[in-house]
Amino acid sequence: MARTVTITDNKTGKQLECPVSEGTYGPPVINTKSLYKELGMFTFDPGYATTASCRSAITYLDGEKGILLHRGYPIEQLAQNSTFLEVVYLLIHGELPTRQQMDEWDHSIKMHMMTHEHISRFYSAYRYDAHPMSIMAGVSSAIASYYHDRTDIKDPANRLITARRVVAKMPNVASKCYRYASGLPFVYPDNSRSYVENFMYMTFSWPTEDYEPSAVAVRALDLLFILHADHEQNASTSTVRLAGSSEANPFACVAAGITTLWGKSHGGANEAVIRMLEEIGTPANVRKYVDRAKDRKDSFRLMGFGHRVYKKYDPRAKIIREACHALLAEMNLNQPLFEIAMELERIALEDEYFIKRKLYPNVDFYSGLIYQALRIPASMFTVMFALARSAGWIAQWMELMEDKDFRIGRPRQLYIGEQSRDYVPMGER
Ligand code: CMC
Repeated sequence: MARTVTITDNKTGKQLECPVSEGTYGPPVINTKSLYKELGMFTFDPGYATTASCRSAITYLDGEKGILLHRGYPIEQLAQNSTFLEVVYLLIHGELPTRQQMDEWDHSIKMHMMTHEHISRFYSAYRYDAHPMSIMAGVSSAIASYYHDRTDIKDPANRLITARRVVAKMPNVASKCYRYASGLPFVYPDNSRSYVENFMYMTFSWPTEDYEPSAVAVRALDLLFILHADHEQNASTSTVRLAGSSEANPFACVAAGITTLWGKSHGGANEAVIRMLEEIGTPANVRKYVDRAKDRKDSFRLMGFGHRVYKKYDPRAKIIREACHALLAEMNLNQPLFEIAMELERIALEDEYFIKRKLYPNVDFYSGLIYQALRIPASMFTVMFALARSAGWIAQWMELMEDKDFRIGRPRQLYIGEQSRDYVPMGER
């Protein structure tokens, strides 16, 4: 017999049998679609902590066990064996590519890397010290205008071209955010380079010199991009889906995702972690800051700690932590902030407050340290996150467009405002 949950209104005695759906993994979901029609009620779930907003076959994460799968493949295996571009193929197409498919994919991404020349002029409207995330959101939105009439979001082939464009153009867009702020000339992509290397070339090369990034740096960045590529229905991805549900231009949806990611509770945490570690200054000060984080009267929180879903060590943080150790050793770098981070992690993980609330380091705790070791300025950290996550956003957008239950997203509310009242003329108030 199909599983159901019965909801009883103890005021009216009315009952509703709600069907229960089981996914491949994870808690079953109660289908409350007919709740309003039958019982005249909505559900109330601030922060959507227990609401499944969609069906998805892209990413699965189990916060209790610390598991993260993309299309069924564990993140640890992808991090060890794959490349970012291959993972993006997997997210978008659902399967790992054959050699031939990968070659075609790689080629087609290279062919779409350029942006219209006028886009380059768009940057100059920004102040020289504008935050790169603001620029990135603005430019992504501007790119929408170049494909507006030519993008048929109802056509699967056109959607795939759009996905390719997003994946291909984001390194170009992101690199220019950095170049503009640094007063450096923009650099065109070089098709002889790999995706990540090309991004580094467009971002960090010097006009007067040859540029060859170290293999260690390319690999470290590729790994970080893999770890940030997708993370199911987080705030920015849900924003992209909500924007997409109104049939908005996909580049505009990506721009909406970028603005949501910017906040320090989300992707902006990687920049905030570095600022926090700099403020702590020395391992000896760590305890003082941990005490502040525990103090309810103090708004300070440990940046890079805690997660809505992970109640165990974030599997991405585990991989990044090791990569960070390896990178610093390989580059023979003495990173004082890394020592502070390790001390902070040690003290927090032994502390009753963090143990009780299951607060562990998340992906952003260590990613900033790697970026810093690669000499990437802190204001660019969230841009790097957005560049990698735009792949997940566009995969999720494609899935949304194919959803048989596609309709505009429109949450309801519990109204707690004034009752209906008459307008009072200004002179009588
Ligand atoms: N430092 C100190 N206390 C914390 C922290 C923290 N970083 N995170 C959560 N808590 C406490 C919180 O005060 C609450 O305590 P109490 O039960 O006494 O009221 C409890 O833990 C539960 O927290 P919550 O705010 O209900 O948790 P949430 O799921 O709404 O928020 C979060 C999740 C990630 C926004 C939050 O943990 C946080 O602000 N962390 C710091 C920012 C950060 O690192 N964000 C990156 C997240 S991972 C990458 C990404 O998604 O982009």
